[in-house]
Amino acid sequence: MRLDKYLCDMQLGTRSQIREAVKKGLVTVNGGLVKTPDFKLDEKKDTVTYMGEAVAYQTLYYYMLHKPAGYVTATQDSREPTVMELLPHASGKALSPVGRLDKDTEGLLLITNDGELAHNLLSPKKHVAKTYYVECDGRLDQDAVARLERGVDIGDETPTLPAKVHLTAQSKNACRMELTITEGRFHQVKRMVQAVGATVTYLKRLSMGTLTLDESLEKGCYRPLTEKELADLKRLGQT
Ligand code: URA
Repeated sequence: MRLDKYLCDMQLGTRSQIREAVKKGLVTVNGGLVKTPDFKLDEKKDTVTYMGEAVAYQTLYYYMLHKPAGYVTATQDSREPTVMELLPHASGKALSPVGRLDKDTEGLLLITNDGELAHNLLSPKKHVAKTYYVECDGRLDQDAVARLERGVDIGDETPTLPAKVHLTAQSKNACRMELTITEGRFHQVKRMVQAVGATVTYLKRLSMGTLTLDESLEKGCYRPLTEKELADLKRLGQT
């Protein structure tokens, strides 16, 4: 692989910025200065530094997106804007969202091209916990909470698995809660809330497994996972 492509793939700048940097002597390969952008290297064996920092060649990418309402969770759609349009710099990497949030749902969405990790996190056998912040029209009495926690009939073949409910506010005809579920059925949270007589008016995913939405990430923005976030998720996917 060419040195400029290697650095470009690692998103260190545009091709022309990278060529300039190489010519200026900011890049080493295996400890030696290389000033020719078309220098050929082996991305599996050679070690590269850029401005003194090691640059490992990565082909798997992991991003946390703070999904805003108004985007569908799909890689392509002929009518609606997709979440992938929020990651313009990550195009061409065969990325996909892990799981689905409704168009009007906000919050944490993991985007990756690591099919194995995605498969593990979505596998119904793994029961990966997902926590949502939920605002509802309608009150949830003790019985309604108990039904959500026990598992509720939402019109599928089987009731939902037990969930955790943490009511954070309740007025005469509205409430807020954090709800943790371990499945990923279609419109699951909305249907669970409907089944106990209330209606979801706002939904935001706060966490998936060990991964928690970084609240400093503005809506519509994304960032790569940290090494720890990724290691924790991989460990979870393997259990
Ligand atoms: N449950 C829902 O009803 N909608 C979502 O987007 C996610 C979970």
